[in-house]
This record gives sequence, structure tokens and C-alpha cells, in this order.
Amino acid sequence: MPHAEIIQKTVAFTRKTLENAEGGHDWWHIHRVWTNAKKIAQTERCSLLVVELAALLHDIADAKFHKGDEEIGPKTAGKFLRSINVDQQIMEHVQQIIRNISFKASFDKPKFYSKELAIVQDADRLDAMGAIGIARAFSYGGYKGREIYNPEIEPNPNMTKEEYKNSSAPSVNHFYEKLLLLKDKMNTATGKQLAEQRHAFMEQYLEQFFSEVK
Ligand code: ADP
Ligand code: NI
Repeated sequence: MPHAEIIQKTVAFTRKTLENAEGGHDWWHIHRVWTNAKKIAQTERCSLLVVELAALLHDIADAKFHKGDEEIGPKTAGKFLRSINVDQQIMEHVQQIIRNISFKASFDKPKFYSKELAIVQDADRLDAMGAIGIARAFSYGGYKGREIYNPEIEPNPNMTKEEYKNSSAPSVNHFYEKLLLLKDKMNTATGKQLAEQRHAFMEQYLEQFFSEVK
């Protein structure tokens, strides 16, 4: 099947599957990650097919919306890619990216590395930063019924993986527990460059936020 047709079928599958997703993990999050991933891929030697498929499928079934089942994402993606006869090797590479892309996974020793993972991970991280990152953090917090800000609960930037997964801290704490840490975790030169401005914007936002609420 030609590249464009594989992508077109994957877009249709992802859009349909994420129809009722939370606002920060919906089709438009996928669309932004896909766009950023293609932009970063232009500056790297990589398989564009793997990058695009992994970007489109990376949140197809996120463990945190499926009772913590970490294999449901790779399984769902694998089943779909088999149904459209994508090469076994490409399918397995996409599954490895889905398993290893998340911030949560970065608490463990890296189990897998590829240039394509590096690119899609940077694209996903960029969407957690800047103006859109701010919107997504409060959208997710609202979806979970969390507080916006509580001066009695201090952020903890050194959480363990279990603490991170189980945290129900106010949304603004998430900046200190994840979002401000992303800049120094970027993999690619283009990713690093795009992250700088988004990071600076979040810092400026927080300065204003605390000048209002403190
Ligand atoms: P990962 O899968 O990399 O661990 P998540 O899917 O948990 O990352 O996070 C994706 C986005 O969801 C975050 O960038 C943020 O916008 C939002 N989010 C996740 N956890 C929280 C939280 N505890 N508070 C606020 N926003 C959150
Ligand atoms: Ni994502």
C-alpha cells in the first residue's frame, strides 16, 4: 500500500477512536504532534513512515484512561496496523515507540531507543509546553476534578514513578512536576530549539499567576 494511503487509513482510525477523548488527549492533540513530528523529521535521518504512524497512534489507548493497562496502547495499534497489512517490522517499531514515549516511562531505565522515538517524543513534549501546554494541563485537571491551585500543597519535582502516577495534586503543581522539566529532556536539536520559547512563555505565565494568587 502506498505511504499516503496507509497514513490516510490511520488518520481515519485515530479520529474515530478518539471521538470522545478528553480535550487534551483528543484528535487535535494527535494532529499537532503529527505536524510537529513531521517538522522535526525534516531535520533528521529517519523513517518518515514510522514517525508518522507512531505520532498518529501514540495515544490511541492511554493507560491512564484504561485502568493503568500499559499494554492496551501497543495492542490496539498492532491490531490496527495488522488489519491494513503494514510490515511486521514497522508495526513492532511503532509499538516500541508507544511503550516508551511517555513521561511516565522516562522514570525507568530506557528499554528502547530509536531516532524515530526521539522525534515523536519531542513532538509530544512540545504539545505539553507553551500556551497549548498550559491549556492542556488545566483541561486534564478539570477532567479529573482537581483543584487549580492550593497554597497548602507544595509541588514535588522529585516524585517517583508511583507518586507521579497516583498524584492528585492541584493542576498548577504539574508545571513543577513535569512541564518545566521537559526543556532539558528534549532529544533533537530542532526539538530543543522549539522548546526554548515555549518554556520561557510558561515561566512568564507562572510569574503572572503567582503575582495574582499569592
Ligand atoms: P505521559 O503519558 O507522558 O506521562 P501524560 O499523558 O500524563 O504524559 O500527560 C499528557 C498531558 O496531560 C500533560 O502534558 C498535561 O497537559 C496533562 N496532565 C497529565 N497529568 C496531569 C496532572 N497531574 N495535572 C495536570 N495536567 C496533567
Ligand atoms: Ni500525547
